[in-house]
Amino acid sequence: MRKAFICGNWKMFKTPGETVALVRELRAKLNESASVEVGIAPPFTSLAAARQALLGSHLRLAGQNCHWEAQGTFTGEVSAPMLKEVGCDSVIVGHSERRQHFGETDEAVNRRARAALESGLTPIVCLGETLAEREAGRTLDVVSRQIRACLAGFSPAQVEALVVAYEPVWAIGTGRVATPAQAQEVHQALRGWISDLAGRAVADKVRIQYGGSVKPDNAAELLALPDVDGALVGGASLKADDFARIVAAARRR
Ligand code: PGA
Repeated sequence: MRKAFICGNWKMFKTPGETVALVRELRAKLNESASVEVGIAPPFTSLAAARQALLGSHLRLAGQNCHWEAQGTFTGEVSAPMLKEVGCDSVIVGHSERRQHFGETDEAVNRRARAALESGLTPIVCLGETLAEREAGRTLDVVSRQIRACLAGFSPAQVEALVVAYEPVWAIGTGRVATPAQAQEVHQALRGWISDLAGRAVADKVRIQYGGSVKPDNAAELLALPDVDGALVGGASLKADDFARIVAAARRR
């Protein structure tokens, strides 16, 4: 049984001061237990404050992106070793908002994920189809191409060390969530492609999160699906109550 991993993607919300307040509220409401992994991904400028506020907690801390070089002339970028030193153990790469607004390609996602692995961070590799692609019946083609390109050249051990997040673009921030059948179809297919790339034993261990309008009232049915091993939560992760209820749903699964 794969342990569920619920990660909050805070996007461009929460200053350091606001981060400390939300982390305190979360810690009070979360009822931490070893049965579910829980993490948060605040903006870069709030990571140090989050780390401090998380002292004594088992919550994981993630960056929202990382560059493939350890340092260099890349204005506006942050590297995996920098995230590691500030106290992150994971990093989101390839989020659809990066792909959509900042020209992120599968090749760049591959390099970012590799750099994360080399620094000992868990990459959360995001992928998913747009509405136009789904409506054209191309969902599985698109997602298959993305997973192969994002994980190209990775050893089975590297694949085993990462997390995949399936996030249909049309479900992100829209309130429109994938149906359980839609989510399970893609998650199951993803596990098959991961098996082609890294072998069945690895594919059986890799966690595949679902993301896109996960809320307290739909989390339980999504998390109960056989190939859904957690969630990447945007909007609902900014409300301590909602996030705690999603984590509780994961604990009951
Ligand atoms: P959402 O965002 O939960 O607000 O839809 C999910 C994500 O972008 O990871």
